[in-house]
Amino acid sequence: MIIDIITIFPKMFKPVLEESIIKRAQNKGLVKINIHNLRDYSGDIHKKVDSYSFGGGPGMVLRPEPVFKAIESILGESVYPRKKKNSKKNIVFFTPQGKILVQKDIKRFLKYQRLILLTARYEGIDERIRKYAVDEEVSIGDYVLSGGELPAMVFIDAVVRLVPGVVSSRDSVLQESFENNLLDYPHYTKPREFRGLKVPDVLLSGDHKRIKKWRVKKAYEITKEKRPDLIARERKVKNQSIKQRD
Ligand code: 6GU
Repeated sequence: MIIDIITIFPKMFKPVLEESIIKRAQNKGLVKINIHNLRDYSGDIHKKVDSYSFGGGPGMVLRPEPVFKAIESILGESVYPRKKKNSKKNIVFFTPQGKILVQKDIKRFLKYQRLILLTARYEGIDERIRKYAVDEEVSIGDYVLSGGELPAMVFIDAVVRLVPGVVSSRDSVLQESFENNLLDYPHYTKPREFRGLKVPDVLLSGDHKRIKKWRVKKAYEITKEKRPDLIARERKVKNQSIKQRD
């Protein structure tokens, strides 16, 4: 997978991309991440990428030219007019106005060979960028951040760890929280007793069938208590797949 990031703050990304799992994914050659400085495409000697808002009002607006040029330099083809009606949703813009990401979306993005992530400061962007350059607008939650850079890093982390071969045990990825809209079951490690606090007997029983049953039950209990909305969501998914089968 190739991920291209377009940003006016390339330095913000470096420390995050050069640590832990994302670093390992790049070193293994499973993911290639390129950072592009939007200012390099400004077409302006002062490297300015924004301008005042037509019609008046406060705040600066990101100009279309740098964005279209940056994407065209990455893709090697025109963004507008687009050659083939590119239905692939691979140019992602980070904005609180976008769809709030859930794990299912992350899995959908995982299918793209190449993703282009456009980040901007949270002020304005020229509407022509939104309409003609961007395929999908995404948000990471209902609160306002000063820009799309941190959300893009969140997005990269969520996607990259699912790329086959990145996390050594695929099982740990497949069994974790949000698979089937369930939260994770409780975990215990050594010692068997800590300050009088004991590990549940079932986990020490060696009876794998019983352990599995206990974990599923606990996952349901925890989800019901902490995130009842997830249970409702899963019920909806199941009903839909039953309808499709009928
Ligand atoms: Cl993607 N951008 C900004 N500026 N704020 C956000 C966000 C994105 N997602 C949640 N808040």
